[in-house]
Amino acid sequence: MNILVIGGGGREHALVWKLKQSDAAKAIFCAPGNAGIQEEAECFPVSPTDIPDLLTLAREKAIDMAVVGPEAPLVAGIVDTFTAAGIPIIGPDRAAARLEGSKAFTKELLREAGVPTAPFETFDAPEKALKALNGKSYPLVVKADGLAAGKGVLIVRDRGEAEAAIRAIMLDKAFGEAGNRVVLEAFLEGEEASFIVLTDGETILPLASSQDHKRIHDGDVGPNTGGMGAYSPAPVVDAVLHDRIMKEVIEPVVETMNRRGTPFRGILYAGLMISDGTPHVLEFNVRMGDPETQPILFRMEGDLAETLLLLHHRQLHKAVLSWPSNAALCVVLASGGYPGNYEKGKVITGLEELAGRKDIKVFHAGTKRNESGAIVTNGGRVLGVTALAPDLSACREKAYQAIEAIHFEGMVYRKDIGLKGIQRLSASA
Ligand code: AMP
Ligand code: GLY
Repeated sequence: MNILVIGGGGREHALVWKLKQSDAAKAIFCAPGNAGIQEEAECFPVSPTDIPDLLTLAREKAIDMAVVGPEAPLVAGIVDTFTAAGIPIIGPDRAAARLEGSKAFTKELLREAGVPTAPFETFDAPEKALKALNGKSYPLVVKADGLAAGKGVLIVRDRGEAEAAIRAIMLDKAFGEAGNRVVLEAFLEGEEASFIVLTDGETILPLASSQDHKRIHDGDVGPNTGGMGAYSPAPVVDAVLHDRIMKEVIEPVVETMNRRGTPFRGILYAGLMISDGTPHVLEFNVRMGDPETQPILFRMEGDLAETLLLLHHRQLHKAVLSWPSNAALCVVLASGGYPGNYEKGKVITGLEELAGRKDIKVFHAGTKRNESGAIVTNGGRVLGVTALAPDLSACREKAYQAIEAIHFEGMVYRKDIGLKGIQRLSASA
């Protein structure tokens, strides 16, 4: 098979790396890729949202299967375009991608499906949203309806902050058209977990559990980021909770999408808050998580290309993926200033020291080669140092030890990736 991976972050590097191990993979292409992906696949400078140019590329390269990393092309309907052109592509069509494209759509669907989620109200006029603040308790969660690169969720502590948030989203359009509607949602206490499944609309194949670290600083403080690190498995998701998530969240959502005539086929990622022992849906993503993909795929056994092709042919019941009883952990190295402003073009050293190791993989995110061939920073999240070991503690040690080899000016990273999981394991031991 000729496979095209669309995207250029750490998630796409992990996808390319795993797909390449498939016996069925003849050639892997990536658009746009990054300096790490270039080592493993031929890359083309096409933006993931330039659907016409991606289609041209797919035709030129006789692509047998396209795999979409980020949400924006899915929400914009890349699957509908490729399908109409007869090119197999993995992911939900535009109608089903609304599960990520509109928070208001998702909240209504969850209500219909009877899936636990925080109580909420949706508004398309700012004055109505402001009026609804009478009698709200705090903290309160104010969400822009549409895609906002993970930044459209504001947790506010009092009425003043809530009014400012509604104005910023709906009047100042801080997140553009994403703020045409706003969702006001009760704040849930608990522990977060990511639960990702593959589904062809009939069979649901859960991937190993994982946990992300969304805030920029240690101890989960500071602004939200795309994700500063992740590990798999997530001890908070034990066997009982796993079954509950499947029965109370994933199955009803897949069934409701089928019943509505907009079946979901692709990768469904539930962002959950485990509150009082019950899984509540915070959000859905319609793609793999970044950086969750890195540890999940690093420890996965099985043929990813074959599995995704089975999904495409609605034969997912034949797929066999497994996760040995080990663990993997990914620490993201970011540019100083991220998720705000940061500089690019800083030379990265030390990568060659870690090359060729079976238990460590440095997945690239925002990297590129400069004119003189050096690998330099090219984004907020730069590298995901991922370690594989028999358990979480050993992974953590290994990952942080590996990081000591790597350097670039302004490099920042969290020092507490995995600690929550390790503490939970020692508390239950
Ligand atoms: P979302 O994009 O909806 O997942 O929101 C981003 C982050 O905001 C989540 O990962 C949570 O940390 C937080 N969050 C969102 N909704 C809630 C909620 N109802 N209660 C508490 N935290 C929330
Ligand atoms: N790591 C969170 C996400 O991929 O949305």
